[in-house]
Amino acid sequence: MLGSTPCNSLLITPIFTTLLIILLYPSNAQLSSTFYSSTCPSVSSIVRSVVQQALQSDSRIGASLTRLHFHDCFVNGCDGSILLDQGVNITLSEKNATPNNNSARGFDVVDNIKTSVENSCPGVVSCADILALAAQASVALAGGPSWNVLVGRRDGVMANQSGANASIPTPFESLAIISAKFAAVGLNITDLVALSGAHTFGRAQCRFFNQRLFNFSGTGSPDPTLSSTYLATLQQNCPQNGSGTTLNNLDPSSADAFDSNYFKNLLNNKGLLQSDQELFSTNGSATISIVNNFATNQTAFFEAFAQSMINMGNVSPLTGNQGEIRSNCRKVNGS
Ligand code: HEM
Repeated sequence: MLGSTPCNSLLITPIFTTLLIILLYPSNAQLSSTFYSSTCPSVSSIVRSVVQQALQSDSRIGASLTRLHFHDCFVNGCDGSILLDQGVNITLSEKNATPNNNSARGFDVVDNIKTSVENSCPGVVSCADILALAAQASVALAGGPSWNVLVGRRDGVMANQSGANASIPTPFESLAIISAKFAAVGLNITDLVALSGAHTFGRAQCRFFNQRLFNFSGTGSPDPTLSSTYLATLQQNCPQNGSGTTLNNLDPSSADAFDSNYFKNLLNNKGLLQSDQELFSTNGSATISIVNNFATNQTAFFEAFAQSMINMGNVSPLTGNQGEIRSNCRKVNGS
C-alpha cells in the first residue's frame, strides 16, 4: 500500500496538470467545420441564399464580400473588426483606414445576412464567421471551388485603424514587401499567389493602377510590363486627370466568373494592378512557376485557393470565451 503512493502520484500529476491546462485555456480551441451543427445547422445555406439574392441586383457583391474577409483577417486576425462603425466606442474604425475608405463595400449585405441568421439562431453565429461563410458562398456562386469553412470564431471588441493602414498590402508595393505582409500573418508564397487569384472577379478604381499608365515611376513612359493593347484600353478608361474612381474589371476576360483567367492574363501582361503583374514579372521570383501552374491547371488553382482561404481564415481567431457574439455586426455589444 505504502509503496503504491509515489507511483499513483506520478500518474495523477500529469493527468491533473493536463486537465487544468484544458480548463484554464478553453480559448485555445481550434476552429471546426461542425461548430454550428447543433446550434445553427442551416447557417451556411442562410448565408448562401442572402448572397445569392444580393447578386441579383449587384453582380460585383460576391467579390466585395470576399475582399472583406481578407481585410478582416489581416488586421487583428479574423475577428469581424472591419465591420465596426466609427462611433462612441470605436474612435478610429478600420472602415476608415486608407485601404478600406471609399473602397471596401458589402457592409449592408453583411447586415442582411446577420439579420437572417439571427432570425433562425439568435445570439449564436459571429460576424467574423459570417464573413468567412460569405466569402466561400461568393466564390462558389461565381463558379469557383467549394470548401468546408472552419467556424467558431468570436467577434473582437476593438478596431485597429493604424494596423489596417500598416498590414493590408497596397497595390503599389513591391513583391518583397507584399510577401512580407503575408508572412507576417503566417501565409507563404503559395498562399499569396493563390489568394491573389481572387482578382479573377470584382472591380478596381483607376486610382489604384493609373500610376502605371503614363509616367510609371517617373520614367515618362507606361509600365513596361503592361501589354500595349491592354494599356490602350486602360488609358481610355482612366485618362490623365480623369476621375480616379472609375471602375475597371480586375479580370477583363471574364469579369464576374471565378476561374483561372486571372493567371492567364498575367502570362499576357494583362494584370490590372502592379501587385498582380509583379507575381509573374519579377525576375527570378519563386511566384512565377506558381502562376504558370495555376494558369494551365485550374484544378490546381481551385485546390490551392480553397486551402489558402482556410489558412487565411485561421489567422489569430478569437475562440472559446474570448471576444463576444455581436448582435449587430457594426457595434460592440452594449454600446
Ligand atoms: C496581394 C495583395 C493584394 C493587393 C495589393 C490588393 C489590392 C486590391 C485593390 C487595390 C483592389 C481594388 C479596390 C477598389 O478599387 O476599391 C482590390 C480589389 C479586390 N481584391 Fe484585392 N488585393 C490583394 C489581395 C487580395 C486577396 C488576398 C483577396 C482575397 C482573397 C483579394 C480580393 C479582392 C477582390 C475580390 C477585389 C474586388 C472587390 C470589389 O469588386 O469590390 N485581394 N484589391
